[in-house]
Amino acid sequence: MPVVPATEKAISEAAEALARGDIVAFPTETVYGLGANALDARAVAKVFAAKERPRFNPLIVHVSGLAEAARYAVVTDTARILAHAFWPGPLSLVLKKRPSGGICDLVTTGLETIALRAPAHPVAQKLLAAVKLPIAAPSANRSGRISPTSAAHVEAELDDRPAVILDGGSCPLGIESTVVALLDDTPALLRPGALPREAIELVLGASFTEAKANYRAASPGQLASHYAPNTALRLEATNVAPDEALLAFGREVPTGARATINLSESGNLDEAAAKLFAALRELDQAGALAIAVMPIPTQGLGEAINDRLQRAANQR
Ligand code: TXA
Ligand code: MG
Repeated sequence: MPVVPATEKAISEAAEALARGDIVAFPTETVYGLGANALDARAVAKVFAAKERPRFNPLIVHVSGLAEAARYAVVTDTARILAHAFWPGPLSLVLKKRPSGGICDLVTTGLETIALRAPAHPVAQKLLAAVKLPIAAPSANRSGRISPTSAAHVEAELDDRPAVILDGGSCPLGIESTVVALLDDTPALLRPGALPREAIELVLGASFTEAKANYRAASPGQLASHYAPNTALRLEATNVAPDEALLAFGREVPTGARATINLSESGNLDEAAAKLFAALRELDQAGALAIAVMPIPTQGLGEAINDRLQRAANQR
C-alpha cells in the first residue's frame, strides 16, 4: 500500500523518490497531483504511462514561486502582477518557455509554452522545498476521469503505480487550478478553476474575452469529454426518478432519489466545489441509471463547477 501520512519523514522520502526518477502523488489545495522531476524525461514518461494520458496533453510544472518560475519561463509584467496577487495559490500561468531552463519537451509536449504554478498546500510546498526541483504534476487520476481530492481516490485510480501517495487529507478547494495564458497582449482564460475569473479580472482591470481557438487546441484539458464518472449525468434537473441518484444544491431538494448528496444546503459555491468530485465518485457507486444534477449558479466558483459537470455529462 503506497498511501502514507504526509509526515516530515514521508515528505523527505518522497523527495528522494522524485530525485531518483520515481513518481509520487501528493496533495495540493486544488486536487492531488501525480508528480515527476520535470527535468527528467524518463520520470515524466512514467506519469504519462500511469495516467494513460495522451502525449499531446502538456503538464503543469509546480514551482516554489516567481523566482523559480523565471528560470523556466519568460515572466512578463502581467505574469508578475498575477503571481504577486495569487501565488502561492490555484492559478496556473501559461508563458513562453525558456529552453535553457531544462524542462524536458515531454512535459510541454513540444510546445514553446509552459504552464507554471506555485501551490499553496503546505505538503506540496514542503515537497518542493525538500526536492529543490521543478515538479511536473497533472491531476492523479486516469486520463479522462474525475480528479482525486483524497489519497483514497488516488489509490482507487492509480493503485500502486506511484512510489508513494502522500496523504494530506481532503483538498481544501477541491477543483483544479484556473489556467490563464499570457502569451500576447490579451490574457486568455484557458480553463476556469479554483480561482474565480472575477478575482483575476479585478486585478487585470479587464475582462477575459473568449479563449482563442489556437490556445484551445494547445490545451486539451478543454476536450469536451473529461472528468467523467461511469454513470451518465443529467444536468439542470428539477425533478428526480427513483432509479436516479441526485446531486443536489440548495434547500429545495426533490425527494425519492436512489441516493442523494447535497453539495451545499446553504447554496455556498466554495463548499460545493470542495465536495463536487468526492460526491460524483460516491454517486457513481449507487448503481443508478443516471446522476441527476440540480442547477448550480455560474458566478464565482460556479463557472468551474458547471464546466466540469458539462464535461462529465459529455460521455465518450
Ligand atoms: O490544480 C491543478 O492544476 C492540478 C494540480 C495537481 O496542480 N493539476 C492539473 O493538471 O489539473 P492537469 O494535467 O490535470 O491539467 C493541466 C491543464 C490541462 O488542461 C493542460 O492542457 C493545460 O493545463 N496546460 C498545461 N500546459 C499547457 C500549455 N503549455 N499550454 C496550454 N495549456 C496547458
Ligand atoms: Mg486532470
